[in-house]
Amino acid sequence: MKKSIVSLSVMGAMLALGSSVAVAAPDWSKVPKRDVQVFHAGVTPIEWVLKKSDHSGRTGLVKGETCVGCHEEKGGLNFDMKRLASKDLEPVGTPKTMNFPVAVQTAYDANNLYVRLTFKAPAGGANQGDKENDVKATVMFANDQVSADAGGKPVAGAQMGCWATCHTDARTMPGADDKKTKYTKAGAYELMQWKSAKGAKAVDGSVSDSRKMEGGTAGVTATGENKGGEYTVTFTRKLAGAVAAGKAVPMGIAIHADKASGRFHHVSLGYTLGIGADGDIKAAKQ
Ligand code: HEC
Repeated sequence: MKKSIVSLSVMGAMLALGSSVAVAAPDWSKVPKRDVQVFHAGVTPIEWVLKKSDHSGRTGLVKGETCVGCHEEKGGLNFDMKRLASKDLEPVGTPKTMNFPVAVQTAYDANNLYVRLTFKAPAGGANQGDKENDVKATVMFANDQVSADAGGKPVAGAQMGCWATCHTDARTMPGADDKKTKYTKAGAYELMQWKSAKGAKAVDGSVSDSRKMEGGTAGVTATGENKGGEYTVTFTRKLAGAVAAGKAVPMGIAIHADKASGRFHHVSLGYTLGIGADGDIKAAKQ
């Protein structure tokens, strides 16, 4: 009798602990914000990035430099936005706002990684292909194997963010098949996405030989709100695989604003997220 009371109370304590872990959200007021610029990248897939006559940055990439190392300056991007908006790199149409900042906050505890994005989604898009969602916010993480082949010279995922998934023959690229989605030739990404449609489920997916918008095992949940045009999106996912404490994991962000679909998103370059490790963005320990 006595014994069962003891074990019941132990169980009760464990249950209470379990539920407090499950709902423990970071105190975001204590987590620093890091502004990351997202931009309309036009038609600049990995094939373009790695062709020297299109992109002189190829030389630095094969020597190990990163996109951010060459293109981020004083918190902004040094791109020639007129070139990115030109018919050459954007034959279909450009959004009125070529780039905007996303404030990124990240935190972790023993079980989970938390990512919070705050941004104003601009109107004036050039493609309103998604009739259901005004806005979508996506985060991708690359594993250690992600690389692209620059003529026998490998370029690592940590250098190029999401560009390893972006190819000339993917959906919404000029002249491309409407069914082919993002994919990688080596390595894989985990993908999580929040959609603004009422009742939409968070996407827990991946990109490897094709893009899968389900079937992930990271237990992704996402919440979002729009307060006077400012969106706050918060993701929770398990620490597992490449996304683990003690690691710096390559990460990229994409925002589909104004009902945009396919490649008509604003994307970030690749950043490393340090989870109890050094990185461009550092997750705060909770
Ligand atoms: C070694 C430095 C370097 C690296 C690394 C680099 N770039 Fe560049 N990039 C440049 C330079 C210089 C230009 C200017 C035009 C040119 O020479 O192609 C440029 C141009 C661009 C442009 C066209 C807009 C413009 O300003 O002309 C895009 C888009 C771009 N880079 C994307 C990337 C991406 C994505 C990566 C990473 C996969 C990357 N770059 C890596 C140096 C670099």
